[in-house]
Amino acid sequence: MTAPPLDTEALRRRALDALLAARDRTRALTTCVDDRELTAQHSPLMSPLVWDLAHIGNQEEQWLLRTVGGREALRPDIDPIYDAFEHPRAERPSLPLLPPAEAHGYAADVRGRVLDILEHSPLEGGSRLTHAGFAFGMIAQHEQQHDETMLITHQLRHGPAALTAPAPPPAPADAALLPAEVLIPGGPFTMGTSTEPWALDNERPGHVRDVAAYFIDTVPVGNGAYTHFIEDGGYDDPRWWADAGWAHIREHGVTAPLFWRREGDLWLHRRFGVTEPVPPDEPVLHVSWYEADAYARWAGRRLPTEAEWEKAARHDPVTGRSLRYPWGDADPGPGHANLGQRHLRPAPVGSYPEGASPLGVRQLIGDVWEWTASDFLPYPGFAAFPYKEYSEVFFGPECKVLRGGSFAVDQVACRGTFRNWDYPIRRQIFSGFRTARDAQVR
Ligand code: AVJ
Ligand code: FE
Repeated sequence: MTAPPLDTEALRRRALDALLAARDRTRALTTCVDDRELTAQHSPLMSPLVWDLAHIGNQEEQWLLRTVGGREALRPDIDPIYDAFEHPRAERPSLPLLPPAEAHGYAADVRGRVLDILEHSPLEGGSRLTHAGFAFGMIAQHEQQHDETMLITHQLRHGPAALTAPAPPPAPADAALLPAEVLIPGGPFTMGTSTEPWALDNERPGHVRDVAAYFIDTVPVGNGAYTHFIEDGGYDDPRWWADAGWAHIREHGVTAPLFWRREGDLWLHRRFGVTEPVPPDEPVLHVSWYEADAYARWAGRRLPTEAEWEKAARHDPVTGRSLRYPWGDADPGPGHANLGQRHLRPAPVGSYPEGASPLGVRQLIGDVWEWTASDFLPYPGFAAFPYKEYSEVFFGPECKVLRGGSFAVDQVACRGTFRNWDYPIRRQIFSGFRTARDAQVR
């Protein structure tokens, strides 16, 4: 069987749009604060913003300018400074980083040459890197991922707000009437993909998984529900906590999600420089895997496995096919999901009925990254591409998988198959969760 010819001109336009959109966002995130803020270390968990900026340019130089374009290196001297494996985040402020104006100029210089390379690259019949514009899509995703990272840095930063955006609309009236959970029937489904052109190595290959019947929450766990867990003494009861999680919260005095503060009988949180009462109807945000796991146990439930999450998000029980997104194969539109930093906060639980899965599960895409029970592991048949440091070096029991993307994720880096991961103690990321339970009592 031969594959149908690609619409290479449509792919070229898509790659161009994705690169331009990423750069608009990078520019917004790096011009809304002054040079001192760009070079400061706002948290030992994060790089200075100006490191992310030049790292974005350097990755683009290495993959698109040198490897795809075959052009001479522009700034090989700075490769080691922007190699994420050579320097942990905490030590990046002390490196001889390009100052802000030079970092902007460098990224723009690389980009100018890359647009010429994109224009002249065969997107079919060339190398696997350029086929269907993969490398251009990969670099657009890389930039958008660092844009989310920079947004996390903005959230950790102290001082007045530098970013604003309209609040998402209130949840539709039917949100209050939704069933608490949805039954996902047992049986096989296709997990991962072998056909999505810009899917990254860890999403491949597509393969069949048999999943026993389970119930999954219709919507992510909200702040209101999470507050009940806190007020029921959830953080003081070792019964709910994994041993390592209990040790961690005791040692670090964790008693609520990150950025929360108790004042009288009110919970307040700080979001991008603004302190406000915690909205009870929003998905809980800035919780670690340990907190999500403990809440689920307290509720008599558990976190969904990664396969359960993906089956809920992609399985179409009518056709038996796996969809690209819960709502179907169409790219995300503003009615499907809260993505792209459009609102700078999650939408209320029960929002986006148009984005529901065939079985009625809502908000799987966008709003908050959802912790799953699963370790970050390769799929059967995994092959690192194009470099081991994207996924392979992180496989193992140290990292837990998050799915679905947050309000800070751009659609180019968000699919039903997209996999994110982090250490179970992390909570500066835009992380929330939903819970599940077995359908059969075992
Ligand atoms: C997939 C979000 C875990 O930020 O560490 C950026 C993405 N990889 N540059 C990360 C990434 C290389 C990665 N995550
Ligand atoms: Fe990177």
